[in-house]
Amino acid sequence: MTLSDGLVTLRPWSRDDVRFMAEASADPAIRRYNGSHDRLGHPTPPLSTTDAEGVIDQFGLNWRAFAATGTPSGVAFAILDTRSGELVGCCGVDDWSNEDVARFGYWIAPDARGRGYATRAVILLTRWLFDMGAARVFLTIVAGNEASVAVARRAGFVHEGTMRAHSVWQGKRCDVMWFAALPLEWAMRQPDEGSHNARQGVASAGDRGAF
Ligand SMILES: CC(C)(COP(=O)(O)OP(=O)(O)OC[C@H]1O[C@@H](n2cnc3c(N)ncnc32)[C@H](O)[C@@H]1OP(=O)(O)O)[C@@H](O)C(=O)NCCC(=O)NCCS
Repeated sequence: MTLSDGLVTLRPWSRDDVRFMAEASADPAIRRYNGSHDRLGHPTPPLSTTDAEGVIDQFGLNWRAFAATGTPSGVAFAILDTRSGELVGCCGVDDWSNEDVARFGYWIAPDARGRGYATRAVILLTRWLFDMGAARVFLTIVAGNEASVAVARRAGFVHEGTMRAHSVWQGKRCDVMWFAALPLEWAMRQPDEGSHNARQGVASAGDRGAF
């Protein structure tokens, strides 16, 4: 399964990607916002290459389960720059409920941030989920993670509310924001509109012209 808008490509993870995943797992922001924590909000150690291999193998099993059941819970894509083939990040479906609500997450390696990969990946993933019949697609963002809030907004997600004290980090409670998109109101439903809107968003958001 490969998704692309011509600039960003999403494809399943491969065993060749272990080093990239292990290195990314040591990034402080990825540990903070994507890694697992204990009940006091202390992060687990970064992944070793053996751990990363286990994560990638599990993604492979989830893809196989998806092929058998049609439910993409736990499937994850590596995000690549289409032109160079460089690995830049990850996005994946955390859960698909039995009422067809999909929840997803993402990260971009520190060197590749600020170039629009996350926004493009979220648009591609969301379109794919709607094409499969998702009735609602959502993500949660720890309040204060402004880079991620900007991605959700650029990708056409609506802030629906904030759950106070829903999470914990290093012993302190923190608020968690909900962002969602519904298929009939999502502005980037069609591929043409999506790439058009994404490009417009770039120009108005900083005009870096990285692509
Ligand atoms: C959150 C995170 C994924 C955002 O990554 P990002 O690279 O900043 O996000 P984008 O892909 O939207 O890039 C946007 C930037 O690229 C710029 N850009 C350049 N070319 C672009 C293009 N062709 N298309 C879109 N944006 C482009 C935009 O102007 C924008 O810059 P700005 O923020 O200065 O306005 C990243 O910071 C991260 O991995 N953080 C740690 C983990 C995390 O928080 N995960 C999310 C948990 S909810």
